[in-house]
Amino acid sequence: MEFIDLKSQYLLSRDLINHRIQAVLDHGQYIMGPEVRELETRLAEYCGARHCVTVASGTEALIIALMALGVRPGDEVITTPFSFIATAEAILLVGAKPVFVDIDRATCNMDARLIESKITPRTRAIMPVSLFGQPADMEQINAIAQRYSLAVIEDAAQSFGATYQGKKSCNLSTIGCTSFFPSKPLGCYGDGGALFTNDDTLATAAREIRVHGQSRRYVHTRIGVGGRMDTLQCAIVLAKLDNFDRELSLRADIATSYEAKLSGKVGLLKLMPDRTSVYAQYTVVLDDRERVREALHQAGIPTAIHYPVPIHRQPAYAWLSTVDACPIAMDMAEKVMSIPMGPYLSHSDMTHVADVLIKATDQTPSGKMDAVELSK
Ligand SMILES: Cc1ncc(COP(=O)(O)O)c(C=O)c1O
Repeated sequence: MEFIDLKSQYLLSRDLINHRIQAVLDHGQYIMGPEVRELETRLAEYCGARHCVTVASGTEALIIALMALGVRPGDEVITTPFSFIATAEAILLVGAKPVFVDIDRATCNMDARLIESKITPRTRAIMPVSLFGQPADMEQINAIAQRYSLAVIEDAAQSFGATYQGKKSCNLSTIGCTSFFPSKPLGCYGDGGALFTNDDTLATAAREIRVHGQSRRYVHTRIGVGGRMDTLQCAIVLAKLDNFDRELSLRADIATSYEAKLSGKVGLLKLMPDRTSVYAQYTVVLDDRERVREALHQAGIPTAIHYPVPIHRQPAYAWLSTVDACPIAMDMAEKVMSIPMGPYLSHSDMTHVADVLIKATDQTPSGKMDAVELSK
């Protein structure tokens, strides 16, 4: 069994993907070819956003978003420590300081109630992460941002396609950033990413920053990066986009089946009623994780830990966080475990994973306590 089965997806869409790749090889415009603009138009429509700017990766999208907003050394950006490292890394790379707020145990997303106490005169932006595929608490976050005139950058690397109060992730704040890393729900076959905004000035800034700050050929009106997404990767996302909504509903079906089997037996994260998730990960919460993980490993079931060490406790980042203890992030880092998930996970594999997990958890005296605690 694969943790994420990309091969089945390719085989199902092989003709479409191959055709799209061949078209790029035929026209030969490998950089900024017609597929780049075509993808940007399709993705902007999909999210209902005015602008989509494709970029070299999800990390690059975050960096370019911060640069477009003018975040600079001395500024602070409020974010979560429970994410992939790129979230805080992007803030540091533009010279600003990440300020961490703890997460909500029920969703593992940033706890919006804790944001206000972290705002200082240096705060320029809030960067929530829509973790595991479920949008963060964007209404509350946007309301706080508005009160203090801050920008909000949604790190939607894991949540493209999800909805919050009926609106698409990536189009929920000042700028939304996503990733097309191969294992993401909408992935390319290399690196890729995009940012979304309804602000014309920010979109122009992002487009220029993506090509070395160039406003016209060899006219560099601002400092930028080499951050384009290449045409072949855009072509691959275009080919996959046709099937994306169907794949999201297959993911949702698997999540529903997992939940039906595991609920009350294994700690589960909560999907908030005003949101949908794209289940970039299906993550369970265990007191005795290493033993349960080993039992799954013995049964040939791959698992992953997202994330074993919160960002503020990573060696290169620890100097930042003398006051940001984030005890819930610390606790969840020891308990979360992601299990196989994807549109082409078979019903029998899903059942097998759930059965082995329940059996292993049953042998943990405290295993059932998690489920009770989390269902509150
Ligand atoms: C939450 C989050 N932010 C940012 C990124 C960075 O995206 P990329 O790998 O495309 O640079 C990822 C990718 O794993 C992610 O999960």
